[in-house]
Amino acid sequence: MDNVYLLNHEPNINPSLKEQISSDYEQIKYENLGLEKYILEKYNLDVSGKYGSLVIKNPFGKASGQLSSNISQIKTDAVDGLGFAVIKTVISQDENSESSMEDWKVKAPKMIVEEIVSERGEKGYTVTWKGRGWDKSFEDYLELVTKSFDIYKETQMPIIPSVQYHLPNSEEDFRESEYRFTTKSLERVWRESSVDLPFIVEQDFSATLSGLKNTKEEILRWSREVPRLIDKHIATDNKIIGVKLFNPLFDDDFQVDMVRALNDNASDTVGTITCFNRLFDFNKEFEGKKGIAYGGYDLSDRNLRVLTKFIDEYKEKTFIPISATGNINSGRMMVEYALRGATSGQIHTFFQIPSENFRLKEGSRTKKALHELMFNPINGLVATMVSLRNILGIKEDNVFRFLDIPELHKKIQLDKLK
Ligand SMILES: Cc1cc2nc3c(=O)[nH]c(=O)nc-3n(C[C@H](O)[C@H](O)[C@H](O)COP(=O)(O)O)c2cc1C
Repeated sequence: MDNVYLLNHEPNINPSLKEQISSDYEQIKYENLGLEKYILEKYNLDVSGKYGSLVIKNPFGKASGQLSSNISQIKTDAVDGLGFAVIKTVISQDENSESSMEDWKVKAPKMIVEEIVSERGEKGYTVTWKGRGWDKSFEDYLELVTKSFDIYKETQMPIIPSVQYHLPNSEEDFRESEYRFTTKSLERVWRESSVDLPFIVEQDFSATLSGLKNTKEEILRWSREVPRLIDKHIATDNKIIGVKLFNPLFDDDFQVDMVRALNDNASDTVGTITCFNRLFDFNKEFEGKKGIAYGGYDLSDRNLRVLTKFIDEYKEKTFIPISATGNINSGRMMVEYALRGATSGQIHTFFQIPSENFRLKEGSRTKKALHELMFNPINGLVATMVSLRNILGIKEDNVFRFLDIPELHKKIQLDKLK
């Protein structure tokens, strides 16, 4: 199988900069200036990213899941420097606390981190878990969102609630009462918190939806209708609707069809698309449950393949901004996604891998992971951006911006980077 990755494993960096990066890797020197300012001053690199139209100080975000389910996790992420955090997905409900997707509220505390070898033979990690959405009450979720907004006020790390709304099969209608109640409740909490953030909500198409075996027509109907239904119940114009797409059990072309369906039908409502949630293995069993979502290199291979096809098609057109997710385990992987149009990345698994993978031995996992993502001398964001700057022939005294990378596919033949 063809390798989709464009960037060389050995970065193209002159020896003195190589030494600087290694020294920054060995010891934290950015505490006084702050991480991003330090990187700008020392390397002339601007690492800010974007979630839709929202600028974030760096592209690395916490993906929605078990690691963004309580306030102490969110606080640690904010204090230790992540660009943004997407809160665990809540299942929508109506004013009578009824949820048509009640089955997605699964209490499953046990999670394990396992090595996984991809079809191409590359070793990575996956988190195995049998749960799905938020398993406490909707009121508890609103309280977490409120407290998270307080953290935003202290730290300026954007916080994004995530919802899985009702997704009907072809014989059913959408339960609009759930869209109305859930969206309005979240908007109320946002308004009461008076944060200087837009009202943001990310719709999650859960990886476990694959287990329902919906048809292509049903899935495309969701892509067309769901953003419209969310938007209909938002009162403010200061909003970003994010849609996180899943990886259904169809081929790459259908995956492109889903992104195209959003761009063709919902470009005036959807502010960003998160590409793409985990893969689904029908045969894998865990704790008595058959059918488990998974990640690792099969996930990034597939996501990058699909995004490459998509941006090839959209070279001459503008498209809804992309936030990446899936096996972002290095700054280099973040840049692989950025080369396919992504302006930020949402990470889950990398925050859970064994500590021996991290150079820093002290501090929270967020801090250790972010340090690795930025300063690993071989595959960190700084090394990768310096290398890319050299390959592109950009002068060192010009600031090279992370946000220049998602535009590159319009100007150069990406294959030339190989
Ligand atoms: C244990 C676990 C729980 C997750 N729960 C959610 C969720 O509630 N909502 C969601 O949008 N994605 C959820 N995800 C998917 C992640 O947000 C992320 O998109 C995906 O795992 C790919 O990133 P990764 O390869 O860095 O793990 C979950 C992932 C894991 C591993």
